[in-house]
Parts: sequence; structure tokens; C-alpha cells
Amino acid sequence: MQAVQLKSFGTTDQLYIGEYPDPSISDREVLIKVKAFALNRADLLQRQGKYPPPPGESEILGLEVAGEIIAIGEKVTNYHIGDRVFTLVGGGGYAQLVKSQENMLMHIPQQMAYHEAAGIAETFLTAWQTLVWHSRIKKDDKVLIHAGASGVGIAAIQIAKFFGARIAISASAGKHAVCRSYGAEICIDYRKESFEEVIKREWGGVDIVVDFIGEPYFNKNLNVLSVDGKMIILGLMGGIMSEINLIRLLSKRITIIGSTLRSRTEEYKAQLTADFKTNFLPSFTTGKSKVHIDSLLPWSAIKTAHDRMEANLNTGKIIMTID
Ligand SMILES: NC(=O)c1ccc[n+]([C@@H]2O[C@H](COP(=O)([O-])OP(=O)(O)OC[C@H]3O[C@@H](n4cnc5c(N)ncnc54)[C@H](OP(=O)(O)O)[C@@H]3O)[C@@H](O)[C@H]2O)c1
Repeated sequence: MQAVQLKSFGTTDQLYIGEYPDPSISDREVLIKVKAFALNRADLLQRQGKYPPPPGESEILGLEVAGEIIAIGEKVTNYHIGDRVFTLVGGGGYAQLVKSQENMLMHIPQQMAYHEAAGIAETFLTAWQTLVWHSRIKKDDKVLIHAGASGVGIAAIQIAKFFGARIAISASAGKHAVCRSYGAEICIDYRKESFEEVIKREWGGVDIVVDFIGEPYFNKNLNVLSVDGKMIILGLMGGIMSEINLIRLLSKRITIIGSTLRSRTEEYKAQLTADFKTNFLPSFTTGKSKVHIDSLLPWSAIKTAHDRMEANLNTGKIIMTID
């Protein structure tokens, strides 16, 4: 097969498409002919050599794909050759062929194109895990989502809206209109305004903060959280070290959860997928939810795609198609 590979770790100049051995499948796995895959921020870190794949996973980049099943293992029961599926993978998505565990697969809803389905798994499962499993989100909760126009951010806005929560986001000003269109009530331009001041002025506080920034936001997040509030840390794009005033943590009974998805056990990811499939996936069929596509490119443009994400130019998902 052909796959996107790296000459060595580093800049986007290191990316190239070339021959790579086909994956082989075990009893409970299927082989997918990839029609589309999506970029994730983690791919940039892996390309730079800062985020190695978990043990046993492919060294090829790519965490989410959509395509057609072309082979199945002997113990696969619910999926068949020819099925249109999308899935979260631990690696290997930037390729013509990828393998997936059966219990991680989801059928693509009938009217949905491969390229849209390719953008669901990583971002929506992360957001589902964050808001539903970690935060126990409920109607009228006030949620602050940083990097609100990121792939995960837009997914989180839609899931929060689904539960009837009230949503504030921080993002570059040019990305606010998109966030508003999905249900964000307060949009904060973090380059010009303090999110702490805006939240205190408009709402007094929030019940949940979804954070990807880390160091520069940590204490401000504590300040805007209400009593019994939760902070879920998913990324550290702004830095990794922080001093903490423990009085604020104690007196407001704040819960802080750091979370990942890729390194979870297969069983955990399968349960998360099953929960999402039952409770949220149907909202794509009714048109209530959708993948916000920033750009749709042929996979030969992988360098352009990585450059775009690295420059923070995307709003939502960058999707690559394979002929
Ligand atoms: N822990 C997990 O389970 C998990 C799973 C998936 C993803 N993630 C993390 O989630 C984050 C988003 O991933 P993604 O693929 O959705 O990203 P993405 O689509 O590339 O969006 C990232 C956006 O974050 C904003 N940003 C970047 N650096 C920033 C900074 N220092 N301060 C404030 N905003 C900044 C930029 O938007 P603006 O123009 O608005 O600044 C940028 O476009 C990443 O940190 C990723 O590693 C975590």
C-alpha cells in the first residue's frame, strides 16, 4: 500500500507518500480501504517526534478514518466486507489500508459521505468522554470551552448544546461566528480580552471548564469555576508548569481531571464508542449535529494540511481524501 511517511522527525518537509507493508489483521479485526482521514493536533506532535504511538500501534500518523471494509477476521460478527465504516485507530490512518478492532467500528449513517464520517471519531469521542463521562454534564450547566473553534472544541460545543447546557468559548475573533452557529452564547477573543473578566461579568462563574491550554490558564480556570466545578485538562498548548493556590481548590471543592484517549485500553475505548454510538450518533442522521469541515484536500496535499493546522488557520476539521 501507499502511506504518508516521515523522512525523519521534524517540519512538514519530512512528509512524503511512499510504499509501506500492508497491515495484517487478527481474528477480531477488519481491514479498511481508507477513503478519507482527518488531521488532529496530535499528528503534528508525532511528526515532530514529541508524541510516540503507544506500544504495538502503527508508527504511521493518523487517528481517525472512514472507508470500506475489504477483509474481516474469523471472529468478526457484526461487520461485513463492503460495509461503510468509520473508526478511531491508535495509529496508521494516513494510509490506503488500515486495520481496526471490530468493537471500535461505527457504520457510516446512510446519507453521510466518507469525508464527513472521517472527522467524527477522535474529536467527538474525546468531547463525549470529557463532557459526559468526566463532567456528567446536565441541562443549564455553564460550560467554558477553550480553543472553541478547534476540531475537539466544535464537537464539545455541539455535545454541550445537545444536553441543554449554556456555552462560552475562547478562540480567535475570526472563528467566533462558526462557534456561535453551533450554539456558543459567549465568545471571547482571548487575544484582546480576559476570559476571567468576561465570565465573571456575564455569568459569575462556570460549572465546567474544558481546557487545552494548560499553564497560562490554570489559575484563571480555577478563578472562574463555581463551587463543585470541574476542570478537564485535555491539552497543554500554552505550557506545562503551573503553581496552584490550593485554597481556591479546597474552598470551591473543585475537581481537576487530566484525560487522554489514545492511550486508553481497548476495552475502555470500545465502551466509549458503544455509548457514543447509541446516544449521540443518531443526531448526525437527523442533521442536529455535524462535522465542521475547514478544508477538504487530496492526501497528496498533506504538507499543506499540516502547515495550515500548525499556523492555527483551521476552524474545525481538515480532511484528506484518498482516490
Ligand atoms: N486529551 C485528549 O484526550 C485529547 C484528544 C484529542 C485532542 N486533544 C487536544 O485537543 C486540542 C485540540 O486538538 P484539535 O485537533 O481539535 O486542534 P485544532 O483543530 O488544530 O485546533 C487548535 C486550535 O487551538 C488554538 N490554540 C493553539 N494554540 C493556542 C494557545 N497557546 N492558546 C490558545 N489557543 C490556542 C488555535 O485556535 P485560535 O485561532 O482560536 O487560537 C488552534 O487553531 C489539542 O491540544 C489536542 O492535543 C486531546
